[in-house]
Amino acid sequence: MKFRQVHSRNITKLLLSGIFVALSCLGQKVSGQGLKDYYRSFFPVGVSVSPRILQGGEAQLIISQFNSVTPENDMKMGPIHPRENEYNFRGGDSIVAFALRNKLKVRGHTLCWHNQVPAWIFKDDKGDTVSKAVLLKRLKDHITTVVTRYKGKIYAWDVVNEVISDKKEEFYRNSAWLRICGPEFIEKAFQWAHEADPGALLFYNDYNEIDPVKRAKIIRMVKDLRAKGVPVQAIGLQGHWAFNEPSEEQLEKTFADFAALKLPLQITELDISVYPKEHEARGRKGSDADTSFSPERENGQAEQYRRCFAVFRKYKNSLTGVTFWNLSDRRSWLDNFPVEGRKDYPLLFDRNLQPKKAFTAVVSF
Ligand code: G3I
Repeated sequence: MKFRQVHSRNITKLLLSGIFVALSCLGQKVSGQGLKDYYRSFFPVGVSVSPRILQGGEAQLIISQFNSVTPENDMKMGPIHPRENEYNFRGGDSIVAFALRNKLKVRGHTLCWHNQVPAWIFKDDKGDTVSKAVLLKRLKDHITTVVTRYKGKIYAWDVVNEVISDKKEEFYRNSAWLRICGPEFIEKAFQWAHEADPGALLFYNDYNEIDPVKRAKIIRMVKDLRAKGVPVQAIGLQGHWAFNEPSEEQLEKTFADFAALKLPLQITELDISVYPKEHEARGRKGSDADTSFSPERENGQAEQYRRCFAVFRKYKNSLTGVTFWNLSDRRSWLDNFPVEGRKDYPLLFDRNLQPKKAFTAVVSF
């Protein structure tokens, strides 16, 4: 009897050490706690994805750390609807299938935007600009087709993206949508998305929400639309920030103003650049030569992430999700904005998919 007990205890120890080694090889924190676990009582934590990161170590990291995904590009108008009678659902379908397989929520992004929009949508067969009626019909067909396809699988949509102008003297962004349709395309987009999937939560999504002038315009537009019965049901604050912006005061004021609307809020595209915040693309300068991820840059970033998540937790009754824009420092859209080819390190995981000081700052509370 004694021999058998000792023998089985040794087997158990061997098995446990094997699991430990396997987890360590996978680069997982042995604790197994992911961002989603730390924040389970606050809000879902998501990440933007593309089909190419849905395998290998990146897929493991997504599954262990997050409980929501957003297609970074695959459901945008251009990629998903490249020609009038042609939809390309391959990328979107693979992301949704991955999410359903791994019990992740899916945010749809984005049904109407001035960027990555296919040129055909604004032109007739003679190459002239289409009429308002034709463009609205095309927008309705696009939204109805895409939302219907993912009905019941996508719980939230960024219906309209970035229609508020960054120019102080301009209310709406001067896009082709606005020039051809006037602002009516905005309310129509929400109406058609709601008709296609009444169960989906419909977001207006924008950036530079910490700017008080832009924030006031966003809030005014949302209030006006809702007063007309337009189903703008939630607001996405993209959160493309930097180690030096926003300040705690800016963040606090931003959340207080939006929370006053009593609508669900989400941080939809969070990243924190290690370079001083800039809002316009520009050419490379001599000062861009140092792209090292220095201890000073890492510490400054970790402190900003700590500050941001302290405010996020404070507003947990309004905040219904935080999504990171890109998975790890392996690749970020900030590697090419505001400076083409300037490596940035804006996320919680390094290029080896290991947690950084910023990760520790986010989960230490
Ligand atoms: O897919 C084509 C590829 O076929 C082609 O060879 C290549 C040539 O450059 O371009 C590829 O498309 C690129 C696409 O990303 C997919 O990688 C586009 O050039 C590039 O402009 C596009 O950038 C995306 C950007 O939106 C477009 O404005 C970024 O990945 C994406 O992270 C970024 O995300 C936006 C949000 O959707 C909205 N909020 C702002 C945020 C940052 O701009």
